[in-house]
Amino acid sequence: MSDDDMSDEIEARLPEEDSFEPPEEFVDQANYTDSSIYERFESDWPECWEEAATLLDWYDVHDQVLDTSDEPFYEWFTGGSLNACYECVDRHLPERGDELAIQWEGENGEKRQFTYEDLHEEVNAVAAALQDIGVGEDDVVSVYMPMLPELPIVMLACARIGAPHNVVFAGFSSDALATRMENSDSEYLVTVDGYLRRGELLDHESKVDDALASVEHDVEAVVLGRREPWSGEGPHGYRELVDGHRGTEVEPVERDSEDMLFLMYTSGTTGTPKGVKHTTGGYLSYVAWTAHAVLDLTPEDTYWCAADIGWITGHSYIVYGPLALGTTTVMYEGAPDHPDKDRLWEMVERYMVDVFYTAPTAVRAFMKWGTDYPESHDLSSLRLLGTVGEPINPRAWKWYYRYIGGESCPVVDTWWQTETGGMMVTTLPGIGEMKPGSAGLPLPGIDARVVTGEGEEVDDGAGYLTVHKPWPGMLRTVYGDDERYIEEYWSEYSDPDEDEWIYFPEDGAKVDDDGYITVLGRVDDVVNVSGHRLGTMELESAVVGVEGVAEAAVVGGSHDVKGEAVYVYVIAEEDADAGDELRGEIVEAVEGEIGPFARPEEVVFTPDLPKTRSGKIMRRLLEDVASGEPLGDTSTLRNPDVVEDIRGQVE
Ligand code: PRX
Repeated sequence: MSDDDMSDEIEARLPEEDSFEPPEEFVDQANYTDSSIYERFESDWPECWEEAATLLDWYDVHDQVLDTSDEPFYEWFTGGSLNACYECVDRHLPERGDELAIQWEGENGEKRQFTYEDLHEEVNAVAAALQDIGVGEDDVVSVYMPMLPELPIVMLACARIGAPHNVVFAGFSSDALATRMENSDSEYLVTVDGYLRRGELLDHESKVDDALASVEHDVEAVVLGRREPWSGEGPHGYRELVDGHRGTEVEPVERDSEDMLFLMYTSGTTGTPKGVKHTTGGYLSYVAWTAHAVLDLTPEDTYWCAADIGWITGHSYIVYGPLALGTTTVMYEGAPDHPDKDRLWEMVERYMVDVFYTAPTAVRAFMKWGTDYPESHDLSSLRLLGTVGEPINPRAWKWYYRYIGGESCPVVDTWWQTETGGMMVTTLPGIGEMKPGSAGLPLPGIDARVVTGEGEEVDDGAGYLTVHKPWPGMLRTVYGDDERYIEEYWSEYSDPDEDEWIYFPEDGAKVDDDGYITVLGRVDDVVNVSGHRLGTMELESAVVGVEGVAEAAVVGGSHDVKGEAVYVYVIAEEDADAGDELRGEIVEAVEGEIGPFARPEEVVFTPDLPKTRSGKIMRRLLEDVASGEPLGDTSTLRNPDVVEDIRGQVE
């Protein structure tokens, strides 16, 4: 939010400090309060990670914590075996069977609650149903569902029978679903025919039909009917199928620690999304431990992560982390401003939420809506707040701390990625001083450093973020493409001849003299729109597919609420009419090929794009224009005038 948007009055009420100590009341009860943990993990690495593994009940305990025999294809807790569904459900039954596992609420106020007993019953019925339609161990099951309780239930049912899930965010288009199903060789799909947004039941079915028509192999589909009762034809009806197996118990399949738990596709620099492979033992230990250490969760907590399970945040910190710890996890299907802009605070009050985790983009929207909304609710149940997904500006941090946390909750700003599986850089809430805008220190056991382009470590200044030791939650490979795994993540700074393997997350960062890391954003061609990660190449390919478009460049420009927004620069073909109609078709193509959340903020027609003498598009200049920043150096351009021309149009 710009200075002008913030009223002076509110500004005056924000705390002025640049750093904050964790509140005493919080420290008194925190899971970790002793800073010696950093040293302890460092001196006992990698065995320190047994502290994470022991949060779970393994069938067989590992023989080795870390196997480095085939770097960078690391293996964790080798020889160990477990079942992720058993860890998240069955083992809680004796002590917490009657306690709530999932507290779900729909936008229209509908409520559904599942105790751990209920969850056990549902998951067993779904597991039996999946087996009934032919799903076997290691078969990839795609799941394309909005935030319904059935989504985590299906994920856990897959885990129970050893079938990796491949959840595709429900906002993605049919093309995106089809690509992900093709790439993962997924022959099964669980989905719904519609979902609610701002009071309307939207069609999901036609997207599913289109995707199924374009996937080349046969797909067995199960559809949860929300709009229409199941007709009894075509795909299986979810309720009918599952109800037919109610009461069946399916023994959890014993999975090797390194067996795949799930795939999650994410965008990178090159065209096609990558299938990030996560395995069972390391991932589950890591998300359980970070939920325990950073979110400070205990089984007694009511915890709400207001993200979507279709992204990694929801996998790790709505489903697996909190349920592994036996916590109550809140799920909400709907918009945060429906029926009014206090919807979330009203729910925090009603459910007496203890810990709340969201994205900075949401905090900036809350800020814009004003303090009356949170102030009209009793938020005193909250004891910890978190953010994830993009940098949080200090002002938004302070607003969150002051108006949501009442200055009595620590705020953890957690840096991590789809690939890291769980949190990597953040303060430990009962230990570390908080500096608004800076994520904090690498977690104990995580060797993250800021380095120069040449790989020299930076002590106090800017550079690139790198991770110098493996960690249990890390991705194991890019599905079906080991070479791409090495190329994308381990090429920039590693020195294989010296057996030195350094993970490069493609983020720029700065570090201060206390070692606190501030993550500045992606240095590859990835745009982060409201915490959603989009590849500019994917966007460009959608744009150039439109008739009348000769050439296009897509960049991210800074945006008050979304963090970044998509800007499209287009050279139209000579005989095309570069006007609103073509603009509309371009927007439609992006929404159609990727999804409505990728909708361009602006489509700018230009006779030319800024290019170097060798013909390369200078995206950096287009980013400056989109962000309203002063232009960087234009002297190497073949056509310097074009930038001013474009700027004139954007303003
Ligand atoms: O650029 C970083 C940004 O989000 C990217 C990862 O996106 P994704 O894989 O979709 O996962 C998002 C949820 C974990 C990172 O490369 N990012 C994430 N958290 C932060 C962040 N940037 C700054 N500060 C953060 N706390």
